[in-house]
Amino acid sequence: MRPSQAPFPATRLRRTRRSPAIRALVSETTLTPADLIWPVFVRDGDGVEEPVPSMPGVIRRSVDKVVEAAREAADLGIPAICLFPYTSQENRSADCAEAWNPDNLSNRATRAIKQAVPDIAIMTDVALDPYSDTGHDGFVVGDEIVNDETVEALVKQALSQAEAGVDIIGPSDMMDGRIGAIRNALESAGHKNVLLLSYAAKYASAFYGPFRDAVGASGALKGDKKTYQMDPANSDEALRLVDRDLREGADMVMVKPGLPYLDICRRVKDTFGAPTYAYQVSGEYAMIMGAAQNGWIDGDRAMMESLMAFKRAGCDGVLTYFAPAVARALG
Ligand code: PBG
Repeated sequence: MRPSQAPFPATRLRRTRRSPAIRALVSETTLTPADLIWPVFVRDGDGVEEPVPSMPGVIRRSVDKVVEAAREAADLGIPAICLFPYTSQENRSADCAEAWNPDNLSNRATRAIKQAVPDIAIMTDVALDPYSDTGHDGFVVGDEIVNDETVEALVKQALSQAEAGVDIIGPSDMMDGRIGAIRNALESAGHKNVLLLSYAAKYASAFYGPFRDAVGASGALKGDKKTYQMDPANSDEALRLVDRDLREGADMVMVKPGLPYLDICRRVKDTFGAPTYAYQVSGEYAMIMGAAQNGWIDGDRAMMESLMAFKRAGCDGVLTYFAPAVARALG
């Protein structure tokens, strides 16, 4: 038979989609609980679990309840939990001193989890916004978010977190030079094995709205964060930031937000091959949950599809408020 007479079509790609068994054989991407980092909100009190209205299903927990959550996460095979403090108004100030108080909420939660659930890795956030009266990640002088003075404070904050026993420090502030400064300080203080997961490509995004509610920073924020967080129009700049942060001593890097920035995830992973994470942020979570609660999408399927998309884009892991639900679904 001449080629032109070959039965049409020669390539039937639908063959590889014919049954669950065949689809499983040709699947290119896997999602497991080991890919998840679970962000949790910590507040003061005892036995307290308080819903965050703009994030259905997400709660602020007192330290004792955070310990229970950490145990649940470990039992589900989630390797890491990320702490975000909801700081009371009286502990917010212009000098942000609460950020490096050895007994602040974040440090107390770290010590309690380390003692009760030693196997789970603890990640914390380095930035001044939970402690400032302006809602900004750095000190505000006039109308400027000052860089170098802020970095000095971030170093103190990071050291206090390392002292408390944190495994992974996540600077989310986007100041210049903070990774190198924190890495030097950690080395000098003997914390040689503390990892730095840099929020390297963090965009000035509308998708952080519900998070600022969750940590009580939305009312306070004056202006926006566009002089330090990235312009959503930029992609090459993300590579320059990741390159710099890796050279300054970051062990892992993050792209944030997640789904609208999967192109950045792919470029970062392909260019550097470093451990690469995405943050599926509060607004992304709220969009899926809001639509699901209205019956407009199947929430569970949308959740799993979104997580698989991060893996397909090259991410090694994802920070997601869905972490326990995903781990349970993978069961
Ligand atoms: C603070 C910080 C933010 C988030 C993580 N760390 C908010 C911001 O930059 O304003 C957002 C996380 C989310 O939206 O889920 N530096």
